[in-house]
Order: sequence, then C-alpha cells, then structure tokens
Amino acid sequence: MPNIKLVNITKQFGKGSLAVDNLNMEIRNNEFVSLLGPSGCGKTTTLRMIAGLETPTEGEIYFDDVCVFSDEKGINLSPDKRNIGFLFQNYALWPHMTVRKNISFGLENMKWSKEDIEKRVDEICQTMRIEEYKDRYPAELSGGQQQRVAIARTLAPNPNVLLMDEPLSNLDAKLRNDMRAELKRLHLNTGSTFVYVTHDQSEAMTLSTKVALIKEGVLQQYCPPLELYGEPANIFCADFMGNPSMNFVDCRGVKKGDKILLDCKSFKCEFTPNDKIEVPEENEYVLGIRPEFVNITDKGLKATVISSLPSGMETTLSLAIGDVNLSAVVFGSVDFAMDSEVTCNFSGDRYVLFDKASTKMLSLGSLKVTD
Ligand SMILES: Nc1ncnc2c1ncn2[C@@H]1O[C@H](COP(=O)(O)OP(=O)(O)O)[C@@H](O)[C@H]1O
Ligand SMILES: [Mg+2]
Repeated sequence: MPNIKLVNITKQFGKGSLAVDNLNMEIRNNEFVSLLGPSGCGKTTTLRMIAGLETPTEGEIYFDDVCVFSDEKGINLSPDKRNIGFLFQNYALWPHMTVRKNISFGLENMKWSKEDIEKRVDEICQTMRIEEYKDRYPAELSGGQQQRVAIARTLAPNPNVLLMDEPLSNLDAKLRNDMRAELKRLHLNTGSTFVYVTHDQSEAMTLSTKVALIKEGVLQQYCPPLELYGEPANIFCADFMGNPSMNFVDCRGVKKGDKILLDCKSFKCEFTPNDKIEVPEENEYVLGIRPEFVNITDKGLKATVISSLPSGMETTLSLAIGDVNLSAVVFGSVDFAMDSEVTCNFSGDRYVLFDKASTKMLSLGSLKVTD
C-alpha cells in the first residue's frame, strides 16, 4: 500500500481563483484520511487529482517513490495505472445487471480468469454482507444494499487506495450511521488507504485517522480528528468542528506575569496558558470556550437561561451573561426553566486563546473568573 504525497499542488480552472492552492500533504499507508471543508473548497478537485481524473496546474504527486504526476517533468500517469478505486457520490449500478454481474464486469474487462473472478466475487460479497443478494437486480435492493454493492464493485479489483467522494450523502440518517460503522470496519479489514471527501464534520470526526480541513483551496490543519477538535489552529478550524459549535468571546487582554487578564465586557477572567507564549502587553483576543466546558455550578457567574433543549442524553443551553451569550452542554436528562437564573463556571485547561487580528490559536489554557 503506498504513501501518497502531494507536493505544492495547485489547480486553477480557467482564469478564476485557485480551486486548490499550493497543497502539501502526505497520506500514509493504511490511513483513513478525510478531506473536509465547506462546499466549493476544493475537496473533489483534490481527490480527482490523486486519481488522475483531473490534471493539476502545478506540483507533483507521488505514490511511494513513484512520481505519478509532475508538471515540470511532464509526467502524468493515467488513472488505470494508479491502482485506485473510486467511489462517487452518485454511484450508478448497472440496472440491467445482477449484483454478481455488476461486480464481476470490471474484473472481466481486466481479463481476470473465470475462477479468480468467481472466488473474488464470493469473497467481496461476504465482506460487504450482500451474499444473499448476488442474483438480484439493483431495483430489488434497498438504498443501503445498493450502496454496499457499489462499494463491493469498487473494492473487487483490490485497489491499494480507495477514494470516496461523499459516498453516504444520498442515504438517510439511520443508514448513514450504519454505513459509517461498516466503512470503518472495511478499512480495518482491507488494509487499504482510504481518502474520503465529506463536508460533514461529524462524519470526518468519527471515521478518520486524520482530517485535512480545507478553506477556499487552502489547507488549514491536517491532524487526527480529536486534535483538530481540541487544538484548532485558528478560529475557522475551531468553528467548523463540533456541534453545538465553540463559543467565541471577544476580549481585551493585559499581560500579568505568565497570565493574561481578559476583559470580556460582561465578566473578567484570568487566562493561564498551558505553554509559555509571547504576547504584547495589551492585545485584542478571542476566547474560545467549548460548550461542554461551561459548567453549571453553585458558585460563579450569574447567567440567564435563554433556551434549554434537552435531548435525553444531554441538554443544550443558551446562556446570557450580561451581553455575552454562551452555549453550554449539560450531560444527563436535565431541564432548565426558560428565563431562570443559574450560575456557571469554568474548569480544566482546554480553553483556547486566539489572536483576534490573525485568528490564529495562541495557546490552550485554564480560566479563572475574577469579576
Ligand atoms: N470543471 C470545473 N470547471 C471550473 N471550475 C470548477 C470545475 N470543477 C470545480 N470547479 C471550481 O473549483 C472549486 C472547487 O470545487 P470542488 O473541488 O468541486 O469543491 P468541493 O468538492 O469542496 O465542494 C469551486 O469553486 C468550483 O466551482
Ligand atoms: Mg465535492
């Protein structure tokens, strides 16, 4: 299984802006990498360039040490020489062919022997748990079963790399959840490298070993999902990951030894960075607070409950502390009366301080309310 390396990859369509802007990333053997970002940020274009279906304007792509694309060296290996499987958003099964035929058709074209094909079809149908449907036609299958056949067809030739472009977006919510679990197991069982395109942060979070978060063609952060969630590189990354999303509080900060005193208008607090950071004597900041790190306690800041949305497992609150609104998540089956008063507090050391001007993360740290 190859490492895929993208070096200074840029793609420009016509005279428009850059769809992909100087992308550098390495997808290691056996990883499950998600390309994540809002619609139009360049995910599909990136995936198609890896596959060889789209030609980069500049840069190089390597599969291990083999250069499959280089604008300078004039190399551009065709898709069929890259040993990849590609699963599109609108996978189309051939309606006039049985499941068995849908899967074997590609292998016949690749001149596999009859015995090998039969063996492989049986094997892959077992993996995808569609053995009992082998002689059915696509119209006789549910959406989820059809999706499994489409994946089986893509996996049948044993691709080293499986590229998937929003493959679950046409499925209903329940099925999508089931298929997520199956994809994860499939990744484990096949040992292939998966590159997965999605605009859904929770899908990327739950499936991937690494997430590449992209904004307007520019890679923002590339790391394991929990790191992206816990240590976002900038405000965009922090805001994109998590639901309900992170609270952002504008504040002015004054340095006091290793700490920074933050004036959030409706309240004041002291931020102690986990790591030593260099900051100006005074600066404008944005304080990032995950909803699960707003604690409802006996002592602390007075807050008014604007809304309370219990879901059974947890309750999402919208709180007003003076002019500052914070969303909070309280675990367990609890409810709060609208317009009631509560007190809240901060604990732990996962609060995030961003520089307001650059939007970059400066440090994680702990918060102590002072006023
Ligand atoms: N064939 C094309 N011709 C012109 N512009 C394109 C083409 N394909 C994509 N684009 C543009 O490139 C940008 C990235 O598109 P795409 O990779 O499809 O985004 P995503 O998959 O993240 O939604 C968009 O602005 C899109 O309009
Ligand atoms: Mg797309």
